[in-house]
Amino acid sequence: MSSIKAKIVATARSLPENIMTNHDLEKIVDTSDHWIQSRTGIKQRHVVGENEASSDISTKIALTLLEKSQLSPTEIDVIIVGTVTPDHFTPSTAAIVQNNINAKNAWGFDLSAACSGFIYGLETGSSLIKSGNYNNVMVIGVDTMTSILDFQDRDTCVIFGDGGGGVLLQQTKNNGIIDSLLHMDGSGGEYLIIPGGGSKIPASVKSVENRDHFIKQDGKTVFKHAVRGMADVSSKILKNNNLTGNDISLFIPHQANKRIIDAAAERCGISKERVLINIGKYGNTTAGTIPIALSEAVDDGKIKNGDYVLLSSFGAGFTWGSILLKWED
Ligand code: COA
Repeated sequence: MSSIKAKIVATARSLPENIMTNHDLEKIVDTSDHWIQSRTGIKQRHVVGENEASSDISTKIALTLLEKSQLSPTEIDVIIVGTVTPDHFTPSTAAIVQNNINAKNAWGFDLSAACSGFIYGLETGSSLIKSGNYNNVMVIGVDTMTSILDFQDRDTCVIFGDGGGGVLLQQTKNNGIIDSLLHMDGSGGEYLIIPGGGSKIPASVKSVENRDHFIKQDGKTVFKHAVRGMADVSSKILKNNNLTGNDISLFIPHQANKRIIDAAAERCGISKERVLINIGKYGNTTAGTIPIALSEAVDDGKIKNGDYVLLSSFGAGFTWGSILLKWED
């Protein structure tokens, strides 16, 4: 087995400037600030402006990663963008970012795993680094959820937001990304789905009239699977590494609902003060939540050399997983 591992050498995030509060939503759908805060923990979310798309957010993230790692664009080998809201089906968002930052020597692709997009991307990027063939891999998780939200559907439109974050991976022989455990269960596909606009229901006047191009979800079913999925996979990765919840300095779960996070953390024995929760400010930014939170934690000095940091996600597909880091400065 290769002794090379991947470590995170830089983190970045980007949120659109515009903010939509729960009170703003009260004017659009039959909801209330009290309902949204008490059922989800969300107070506000960032939303893109006109003509602003996932590649614009990703480009800002990529430029910050270059600045923080002091690399030139030509040194980037691979760009992976986890997203379910690419600018287009083709070209990929990764290709647009590559052109925008002038990363002439990079190849890359978009990865579709919904809220697990960053975790799946991090595992993919880490494996490319471990192969020994690549030195600098960018992994970005980004979503412009407002582009697929139905603002007539209060079940979905109140919980999502726009934004993203990313990391730069490099080789190490010491710590960094030390373990991962990823899962998928396609039998859950129908519970969180954008039915139209793809090859199954191509865009047509009828598909638009049916609102098929918007995201639909069975919130209660997703909720149950999310708690169980994140708790099980996080407990298992801890056990596989002979750790307990007490060994984790910071747990960064996907930010879908504060109640999901509280329940999952409790089930894996991680106390509240070591759980990062920022859903109040951003809502659920899908593939964006974990890298946004990680970048905030790093900037706020919440992660020290040698700390165990646990990332965990659950999303449409269903897709879920955990990644364990032993932080290396
Ligand atoms: N504002 C006000 N009332 C609302 C509402 C809203 N935005 N959305 C639903 N309600 C109402 C419902 O109509 C229902 O009313 P009723 O009791 O009269 O029928 C009541 O609130 C309870 O609805 P319910 O769906 O049972 O609420 P919930 O506690 O399950 O919370 C979610 C709904 C969506 C917040 C929650 O199920 C959830 O977070 N699910 C997971 C979603 C998720 O994580 N998705 C992303 C992928 S990980």
